[in-house]
Amino acid sequence: MTTPIRSNVQALLKSRPSGIPQSEHFEIVTSALPALEAGQLLVRNEFLSVEPAMRGWVNAAANYSDPVAIGSVMRSFAAGVVVASRHPAYAEGDQVMGMLGWQHYAITDGSTLRRKVLERDLSLSLSLGVLGINGVTAFFALTEIGQPRPGDTVVVSTAAGAVGSAVGQIAKIAGCRTVAITGGAAKQQLCLDEFGYDAAVDYKSPTFAADLAHACPQGVDVYYDNTSGEISDAVLRHINKHARIVICGTASVSNWEPWPSGPRVERHLLNKSARMQGFLVWDYEHRYEEAIRKLAPWVRDGSLRYREEILEGIASAPDAIAGLYRGENLGKRLIRLHHD
Ligand SMILES: NC(=O)c1ccc[n+]([C@@H]2O[C@H](COP(=O)([O-])OP(=O)(O)OC[C@H]3O[C@@H](n4cnc5c(N)ncnc54)[C@H](OP(=O)(O)O)[C@@H]3O)[C@@H](O)[C@H]2O)c1
Repeated sequence: MTTPIRSNVQALLKSRPSGIPQSEHFEIVTSALPALEAGQLLVRNEFLSVEPAMRGWVNAAANYSDPVAIGSVMRSFAAGVVVASRHPAYAEGDQVMGMLGWQHYAITDGSTLRRKVLERDLSLSLSLGVLGINGVTAFFALTEIGQPRPGDTVVVSTAAGAVGSAVGQIAKIAGCRTVAITGGAAKQQLCLDEFGYDAAVDYKSPTFAADLAHACPQGVDVYYDNTSGEISDAVLRHINKHARIVICGTASVSNWEPWPSGPRVERHLLNKSARMQGFLVWDYEHRYEEAIRKLAPWVRDGSLRYREEILEGIASAPDAIAGLYRGENLGKRLIRLHHD
């Protein structure tokens, strides 16, 4: 079967960065689109996702997935519409989300798809953010590892971001007091006004340590850590007995080789009978729909708010990851594609 579409535009990994990938590590190319084989479908990507984790996906250092090969399409989540199908489970017009890559069109046998997007009353873009990996991560990491209880103080780093903003609001729904840690006054305000945090502190301020202590008069019961580094060092000083520390991200560590060193936390955890546990959303893949069923009604009734920051066109892809690490994004960073 020939597809109605003949050519594709793709962002390829050109060279391997040692730290945070920059524009020069990618190139945009136009390529021919092959004909669909039996069992395949063609997806027109509408939105591409930009994740901090993509830094790890292109890095040769040990990670939880194989590194993207040089010269291949940048691995990424994307959401789009099926425009042709030779697959029995997918029909033209279906909305899908999955590991479809930084490209205008993706041909897949279905194995790279995460799900059909059934929330047709909501924007398709949400399947990459609050109703995608970010929301699912926030939900399971907080509820299963953080185990928030009413009255707990929950502190969240990268609190204004896609994961952090959802964590704060889910903790609030669970009856907790929420404290945001974020970079800069605009994001602090967003955390207070939009995401309902009870307090917000700026980790870039010279008074950060004192501001944090002031914001946590009852100590910290749950620390949802998206950064590691000095932000975490400051929070760990305030943990309460039986605190739970969720290790979800390490945004402040620019390189994992050589092995970074820092404070020794063991004695501190021991004294407080505290638990620190890593979280990987892939461990919860089989429960993905369970999280969406919880999150979608909260989005619809306004109790789970979100922000999106949409870059226009695939040309914005090469610099998009670096921008996350410059802290530019106000909300979930996405790329909207424009098809000729
Ligand atoms: N474990 C998992 O399965 C899993 C799944 C999804 C996401 N994550 C992690 O969750 C975290 C948030 O992801 P997201 O998609 O929601 O991204 P995001 O928070 O929307 O964007 C990243 C944010 O990180 C902050 N940041 C960047 N460099 C920093 C630094 N040096 N120090 C402190 N903060 C820095 C910036 O916010 P500020 O301006 O506030 O600094 C930036 O806006 C990431 O660490 C990501 O890797 C983990």
